[in-house]
Amino acid sequence: VSLIVTEEAKAAIKNFELPSELGFGQVLSPIMAVCDFKNGEWQNLEILPYGPISIDPICQVLHYAQEIFEGMKAYKVDNKGPFLFRPEQNWIRFNKSAERMAMAKVPQEIFMDAVMEVTRMSKDLIPSNSGESLYLRPFMFATDSGLGVKTSKSYKFMVVASPSGSYFSKDSVSVLIERELIRACPGGIGAAKTGGNYAGSLASAQKVNKLGYMQTMWLDAINHENIEELSGMNFFSVINGKLVTPKITDTILDGITRRSIIQLAKSLEIEVVEESLSITKLIDKIKSGECSECFASGTAAIITPIGFLAEENGTKYELPTIDNSIATKLRQTLLSIQEGRIDGPEGWVVTVK
Ligand code: COI
Repeated sequence: VSLIVTEEAKAAIKNFELPSELGFGQVLSPIMAVCDFKNGEWQNLEILPYGPISIDPICQVLHYAQEIFEGMKAYKVDNKGPFLFRPEQNWIRFNKSAERMAMAKVPQEIFMDAVMEVTRMSKDLIPSNSGESLYLRPFMFATDSGLGVKTSKSYKFMVVASPSGSYFSKDSVSVLIERELIRACPGGIGAAKTGGNYAGSLASAQKVNKLGYMQTMWLDAINHENIEELSGMNFFSVINGKLVTPKITDTILDGITRRSIIQLAKSLEIEVVEESLSITKLIDKIKSGECSECFASGTAAIITPIGFLAEENGTKYELPTIDNSIATKLRQTLLSIQEGRIDGPEGWVVTVK
């Protein structure tokens, strides 16, 4: 497989001006990486100008949702970097998702070359304030034509990139406890980073938005009792000074930020508990004051404190605002590593040359 950078892509980068208002995932780098899988083989990896692609109306992905994606970031704060954070973990998870969705696996070289080259070519477009980054979105979808439900034999793997600010427009996130709908069931696809999980969250997101809140908190499918995750991020709480987070099962997305936070917390001598966490127990602990913090974690969300949990009937369980919170300490440590101010564990930060 060769990497081909087209002249059109180079020209697109040269002519691009970064808008002053970024938001999240709104402004796109003017290039994209594309690699097709057909006849059992990966074709050349091409860097093209960003733009529409043509697909058949009966392309499998449009009907049966055979699709997966990743979220990762390149950091270039204070002119250091660009740095990627644990990119091989995204590649590993991408192929786990591919396996669950019966898709072709992407070789490490193609995944990394695509991410690296898009980052390298976009390096002058990476915003430089702490917390800002180039959000990278590798994705792959089934391109066989036909209305029979079957495993596609051809796929398109792509990487696009978005110079982005923070995911949330506020400093904290408000969360609705979803007591009716469910996100994932044992044996299902909840652990795969596939579009269908996010599509399935939107009906709840509509309720959440109507009530003026920001994220859904999903409970387990069987008893509607144990906390799983939020729609696009993992969930953490601090109970009696310990960091408590639902343990990973096949119904929860195994967050790379989540895993990194757990490792950092342990190195900061914060006790970490990974176990099933009941919503009833959490509410009791919030009311008693034993639960002092809740926060969301993810590549996009970084670490964002949760201001309150709410029920559909309007009942709210507020978290106190505290100085020197564990969330703040972990967020600062994580960002300092990602942005290259302090050294993290071996191999976490990869420089894009
Ligand atoms: C990420 O955090 O990168 C994600 O993929 C979540 C997405 C909903 C923004």
